[in-house]
Amino acid sequence: MEWDAKKYNTTHDFVFKYGAGLLELVPKEPKKVLDIGCGTGALTSQIADLGHEVTGIDQSVNMIDQAKKSYPNLNFLQEDILNPSDQIGLYDVAFSNAVFHWIPDQDLLLKNINRHLNTNGQLICEFGAVGNVQAIRGAFGRELKALSIPFEEPFCFTSIADYQLLLEKNHFEVVEILEYERPTPLKGGWSGLREWMEQFYATELGELSEEQKEQVLKNLERALKSSLWKFDHWEADYRRLRITAYKHP
Ligand SMILES: C[S@@+](CC[C@H](N)C(=O)[O-])C[C@H]1O[C@@H](n2cnc3c(N)ncnc32)[C@H](O)[C@@H]1O
Repeated sequence: MEWDAKKYNTTHDFVFKYGAGLLELVPKEPKKVLDIGCGTGALTSQIADLGHEVTGIDQSVNMIDQAKKSYPNLNFLQEDILNPSDQIGLYDVAFSNAVFHWIPDQDLLLKNINRHLNTNGQLICEFGAVGNVQAIRGAFGRELKALSIPFEEPFCFTSIADYQLLLEKNHFEVVEILEYERPTPLKGGWSGLREWMEQFYATELGELSEEQKEQVLKNLERALKSSLWKFDHWEADYRRLRITAYKHP
């Protein structure tokens, strides 16, 4: 899926605004930091402002181009963390906000992060936990089923127990792993839900005809109104997993 970087910065800026809380976990003394899936670079730039030497990587050309435009003095590379080049190098901290759930091969992800960390290097990340946006996903799945269209979930939302095991298997020692609910107001009033769908389920909606898409989105709004519509905005049922871990010596 390719990202619409401008729309991301204006309509979906809640992603990095919430992610700013994760910066508090980054050490105070200057470190070499790799921001994995840096998107349009907002958090990368805040990491630099904290005095760290930071490199942002992202597989999306649009996101990296926007990041370079917004922050020309920072270092950004277009890289897929599942297939990283030697250009990336070694870091003290691997930081990542709202990225891991987009990545199907979590084992390879953690192996590659481990390879790019110094001994005792730190992993600080946050992403979708099991049950994340469950109401929306469930309703979307039902709509596609009604049209006899198979729904293959693009996201990998995981639990504390499963992720702890995966981290340990990949030679990380977990300091903290936390799961929490984060109800998230969407911008745009009544059209906020369809704008969110168009960003985060772009691939799945892109496979529908215009007529089917309109029908699915209307039905979705109707089905979710009683649970997620809050007077003048939609509130998405986000659940997050927040992790701090160290690479084993
Ligand atoms: C929701 S955005 C989060 C961006 C940024 N971290 C922020 O907080 O604004 C998810 C980002 O992960 C990137 N991404 C997904 N899979 C990736 C991969 N395998 N390697 C690098 N980046 C990836 C996407 O291109 C996208 O920019």
